[in-house]
Amino acid sequence: MIVTTKELFKVAYGQFAIGAYNINNMEQCIGLFQGNLDSQAPFIIQISKGARSYARVKMLEGLINSAQEVFPEAIFAVHLDHGDEQACYDCIDSGFYSSVMIDASHFPFDENVAITQRVVERAHAKGISVEAELGMLGGVEEDIKVDEKHAMLTDPDEAATFVERAGCDSLAVAIGTSHGAYKFKGRQGLHLERLAEIQQRLPGFPLVMHGSSSVPREEVERINAAGGAMDPSARGVDENEFAKAVPLGVTKVNIDTDGRLVWMRVHREYFRDEPEKIDFRPPGKIFMAEYAKFIAHKNTQLGSAGRLAEVREALG
Ligand code: G3H
Ligand code: 13P
Ligand code: ZN
Repeated sequence: MIVTTKELFKVAYGQFAIGAYNINNMEQCIGLFQGNLDSQAPFIIQISKGARSYARVKMLEGLINSAQEVFPEAIFAVHLDHGDEQACYDCIDSGFYSSVMIDASHFPFDENVAITQRVVERAHAKGISVEAELGMLGGVEEDIKVDEKHAMLTDPDEAATFVERAGCDSLAVAIGTSHGAYKFKGRQGLHLERLAEIQQRLPGFPLVMHGSSSVPREEVERINAAGGAMDPSARGVDENEFAKAVPLGVTKVNIDTDGRLVWMRVHREYFRDEPEKIDFRPPGKIFMAEYAKFIAHKNTQLGSAGRLAEVREALG
């Protein structure tokens, strides 16, 4: 059943976070549904602009619709990840998405407000939820590069003004994370003190954490042992921090890179160990099972595992 992110956040706020996972292909889609049902978790499917052009819009919609039939128990939102204004309108008009993210965080404050307001107006007219972003994450967002120096943490006062003026349903905040596999150096981590200040100004309002992959060391080591060349110092968000972020208002946690690492590890190891093989289905099968296991594990860390019945009941 496709629901809005707003409906999911109402149940989750302060109790647990919903995993928001990016998908690009059939194997990810099957593994995603399987892992969420194995762990009895509600979830968010995220589709980036890159995914829409890679897999074609209609193919992705078809995949998700078919997955609903194969896994009828699933409760999830379909969300556009890092949309610009036009991508938001395309998704709103498609009638398929239940949630969009308008990412105008690289514009000056007033322009970010104005663009978000326009998207909110069109989305809310169709019952679609809107996530906006304020502050700048480090790393790469789609085609926009933000170097560490210019990554700015979200200002709590600005966040309150922004939400009031823009009318969005949730807000992606910059609290030290960045996209990709190389987030932190040394003892860096999440700025939970900043998150607490934002929550004080926006009590009860759903906050979103982007760039939340944990980049497990074991995964990087296995990829490199199978021919990869990742920087071994790659480091992500400590999974133990999720439980600290949830009471501070984080209800959506975005994870893409970790899923890519699972894909990379499975395929590199498979073809290293079976160099004469050419059929891509055996590693594809392993990947779907491993991805499902990975999703179930993440949901346990986020606290969303085992919440499906509660969400179903709350939705009525
Ligand atoms: O925030 C970016 C997400 O990881 C999506 O990545 O634009 O390469 O699909 P992508
Ligand atoms: P990661 O690169 O940490 O997986 O973040 C994904 C994300 O924020 C998608 O919007
Ligand atoms: Zn993101």
